[in-house]
Amino acid sequence: MLRVVVLVSGGGTNLQAIIDAVAAGSVTNVELVGVLSNNKTVKSLERARKAGIPAVSVSPKDFADREDFHRALLAAVDGFRPDLIVLAGFLVAVPRQMLQRYEGRIINIHPSLIPSFCGVGYYGLRVHERALERGVKVTGATVHFVTEGMDEGPIIAQKAVYVEEGDTPEILQRRVMEQAEWVLLPRAIDDIANGRIRMEAGKCVSTRQVEAR
Ligand code: GAR
Repeated sequence: MLRVVVLVSGGGTNLQAIIDAVAAGSVTNVELVGVLSNNKTVKSLERARKAGIPAVSVSPKDFADREDFHRALLAAVDGFRPDLIVLAGFLVAVPRQMLQRYEGRIINIHPSLIPSFCGVGYYGLRVHERALERGVKVTGATVHFVTEGMDEGPIIAQKAVYVEEGDTPEILQRRVMEQAEWVLLPRAIDDIANGRIRMEAGKCVSTRQVEAR
C-alpha cells in the first residue's frame, strides 16, 4: 500500500475527489495516511476528519520566520512517513529540503494546460481570470511531478476543457474541476500506486515506455 499524504490550503474539493475515489475502489493500493493544511480553519481538515484521516495544520503565522515554518512543515510531513505527497490546492511553495528528501514523490494539480497560465502568481481563481482575459477557447488542468521550478516538473497527465460564452472565472473554475481536476488527480495517484507511472531522470515514465526500452 502506498502511503499518501495530501497537502491543502483551501476548500479541498480535490482532496474529496481522492477520498471518494479510494472509498469507491477506483484508486487502489493507497492508504491516505494524513492531510496537512497551512490554514487552521479550512474545510479540508473537516473533510479529512470525516473520512477518518488524521489531519493537522501547520500555519506560518505560528512561526517567527519562514525557516522555522519550513522545518515544522517538513517534520509534520515526515511524521506521516509518506511514499507520495499530493499537493491538492496547496498554495505554499514547497521548501527545497522537502523537494530533495521526496524527489520524484511529490505531485501537484494545476488548473491550466501547462505551460500556459502557470508559474509564480498563477494559482486558484487567478488562473481562470487570466485565461478569460487572454480569450483562450480551450483550457484545462495538468498533473505533474514537483521539482524546483514552479510548475515546471515533468507532466503526468493533462485534460482539455472548453471555455464557453459567458463564462466567469468561477464558472470556468468549476467546469475545469469537474471535467479535469477531479478525474486526473485520483487517476494519477492510482497510476503511481500501481507502478504504471514514475519519475526517472527528471522525466515522467510510464510502464509501457519502460518496457519498450
Ligand atoms: C484547484 O483548482 C487547484 O487546481 C488549484 O487550487 C484549487 C484548489 O481547490 N491549485 C493551484 O492553483 C496550484 N497552483 P480545492 O481546494 O477545492 O481542491
